[in-house]
Amino acid sequence: MKNIIESLNEIKKFGQYPDVHVIESAPDPEVLIGNKKILLFCSSNYLGIATNKQLIDAAVLSFKKYGTGSGGSRLLSGTYDAHVALDKKVALFKATEDALTFNSGFQTNFSVINSIVNPFRLSIKSVLFSKKTIIFSDALNHASIVDGCRNSKTEVFIYKHNDMEDLERGLKKYKTKRKLIVTDGVFSMDGDIAKLDQIVKLVDIYGGLIYVDDAHATGVLGEHGGGTAEHYHVQDKIDMQMGTFSKAVGVLGGYIAGKKELIEYLRVATRSYIFSTAMPPAIAEVIAKSLDIIHDDHHIRSKLKENADYLRSNLQNIGFDTLTSETQIIPIFIGDDNKAIEAARYLFKHNIFGPSVRWPAVEKNRSRIRLTVMSTHTREQLDYLLNICSKMKEDLKIK
Ligand SMILES: Cc1ncc(COP(=O)(O)O)c(C=O)c1O
Repeated sequence: MKNIIESLNEIKKFGQYPDVHVIESAPDPEVLIGNKKILLFCSSNYLGIATNKQLIDAAVLSFKKYGTGSGGSRLLSGTYDAHVALDKKVALFKATEDALTFNSGFQTNFSVINSIVNPFRLSIKSVLFSKKTIIFSDALNHASIVDGCRNSKTEVFIYKHNDMEDLERGLKKYKTKRKLIVTDGVFSMDGDIAKLDQIVKLVDIYGGLIYVDDAHATGVLGEHGGGTAEHYHVQDKIDMQMGTFSKAVGVLGGYIAGKKELIEYLRVATRSYIFSTAMPPAIAEVIAKSLDIIHDDHHIRSKLKENADYLRSNLQNIGFDTLTSETQIIPIFIGDDNKAIEAARYLFKHNIFGPSVRWPAVEKNRSRIRLTVMSTHTREQLDYLLNICSKMKEDLKIK
């Protein structure tokens, strides 16, 4: 325990222990914190679906029908008609042959990457002769991908963020190896989009499987919210489309979508699927309903883009560096850790919840305020934020 206490004290001494604000209401653009109205600019409820009345009414009925828990893992007593319907719905939503659902996105990445890299073999001979896989991972991929790569205990070539020349250098270097290219679709801290169209071209030349994490793209990118592959119209070229139901879909859980044989294999080879209790069937039903709403409602998607473009361009006009953001995730780059913490506290004092993110969520000395926009934010709320940000820039002397 001594080491742990020392570590904790050090985190606190350097001012790195995060401020955690407790929200006492639903994730609307305005929430209650400490009984005070605060504008929420850091929710992943991008489309406002988590508070959609139609969805909440459907959820009440689902919970009445199925109760609260599944009572088993998917391969034992935890597969309900609602889960099977959700798997099918996800496949339809992603335009793939089949899909598999998990309790969280983290769990999905952590386990599925290993199942792909180290194909499960029953005969010793096939184990001995199976080819080693090299993972090619973008430098800014999410922590769950990083941990998924570590879990697979294979060599990882980390290519510079969204740098296709660097990726090509790696693909050439490992020409004869089995290859898996893993990338976020929308990068969670910088808010830019992976160059999936170019990755597809490189794979045409050098071979390999493509794995895209659409945590922040599901429901957001593409005409029907299908994600990054739909955005670039390359659905048929992507081997594995992973994502979460916890962000724009407004619920919780993860998925992987792809070819029928891939899903059939993952169902019996993925430890976090096999050895974890299935999500409550009521939740599976709510997610399926949410996907229906998202698929058909183009307005909420275009409103999200309009809000994001408005906020980003005006932050830039004030003189902030929003890095390479092109989506609803908009960083205000600050650099110094303590300054970023100070900025988040400044915003909170002015009734805005816009947190600082620091290492290990981002690289060292690249701290920032990470804002996220919702389609349900009003122009008035965006303008209030911009006004406070402008004052903050002067008061805290942010360059
Ligand atoms: C890119 C990315 N992948 C995966 C995850 C994990 O998803 P979940 O929150 O469903 O565990 C996140 C969550 O923040 C993420 O940003």
